[in-house]
Amino acid sequence: MNIAKLARPEIQTLHAYEAAEQVEDTVRLNANESPIVSAVDHFRRPLNRYPEIRPQKLQRALAARFGCVPKKLLVTRGSSEAIDLLVRTFCRAGRDSVLTTSPSFSMYRHYAEVQGARFVEVATLAEQDFAIDVDAVIGACEKTTRLIFICSPNNPTGTTLPRDQLEKLLQQRGDRSAVVVDEAYVEFGDVPSVIELLDKYPNLLVLRTLSKALGFAGARCGAVVGPEAVIRMLSAVQAPYALATPVVECVEDALQDEQLTLAEGAVARIIEERNRLMREISAFDFVKKIWPSDANFFLIEVDDADKVLSRCKEHRVLLRHFGGNLEDCIRITVGSADDNNQLLRALGTLKGQKP
Ligand SMILES: Cc1ncc(COP(=O)(O)O)c(C=O)c1O
Repeated sequence: MNIAKLARPEIQTLHAYEAAEQVEDTVRLNANESPIVSAVDHFRRPLNRYPEIRPQKLQRALAARFGCVPKKLLVTRGSSEAIDLLVRTFCRAGRDSVLTTSPSFSMYRHYAEVQGARFVEVATLAEQDFAIDVDAVIGACEKTTRLIFICSPNNPTGTTLPRDQLEKLLQQRGDRSAVVVDEAYVEFGDVPSVIELLDKYPNLLVLRTLSKALGFAGARCGAVVGPEAVIRMLSAVQAPYALATPVVECVEDALQDEQLTLAEGAVARIIEERNRLMREISAFDFVKKIWPSDANFFLIEVDDADKVLSRCKEHRVLLRHFGGNLEDCIRITVGSADDNNQLLRALGTLKGQKP
């Protein structure tokens, strides 16, 4: 099985950009760089030189963290860039399609639209905590379905797709679609990453990010993990020198053991806070439902979403509203204990507590 054959024909034969050679201890007169080192020098490496075309040390560090071999991983500018690269690589404009479940992360639609790919959504089962209906996903696939995005845990519902259901989808689609599991929030749940299934399913790709559990959203760093032939094509499509030198340095530092231990502690605190917030919010009488969540956010349904949102805003707290089939639902990101207390105070001004 080789899903690289599903890629656009012109991408299958695309040659990667040939960057100027970079060799240690040489005089670099081959890349039109400046010899002048800026006076702003709080970086380990001077910025007058281009970064590595692909940051190899960082690729090795992320592969070690996520549990795969480096050649199966491409470092990207957040997982958002990985979504864009996948859609551009696999979908011919006007012909191929992207399928995902609904509600889910809006970037899948966004990049499908940018590429001119068809976009198909399959509703999740609202009455079953927004579980993904894998049979419905399989039934909605067409000959042109190149990519299936499964967000797990899902944004904005917090739902994880059970492993056996994912395997069913992977088996059913075989080499007809690439199944992309977006694990942006996987660290906040209690199931392991599906990266461990990569060797078993050559049609599986996994997205990871440093923006959530590692707290590095500002650095714009993520990764796509999958079959080597696909990673090579994605790399050929990605801009040369995509990761800036200061970003590479900062993320290399973030991946040191000491930093990772701190990040693990932060994740544990966020999970505790999530549970506390859910408990306390459930006491308000205007809250009709709180969905369980494996992420650093959770979804609630209230009597009147606009009223809750505007009252919170008056108290300098911003929440997220989506509308559509989530009309009176609000997504709450779990903040620090102080942030969460500020939210609870704002909500406390709305109405009474349940008896
Ligand atoms: C499900 C999901 N995937 C991907 C992303 C993109 O994250 P980033 O580009 O910061 O890695 C987000 C951000 O909110 C997300 O919710």
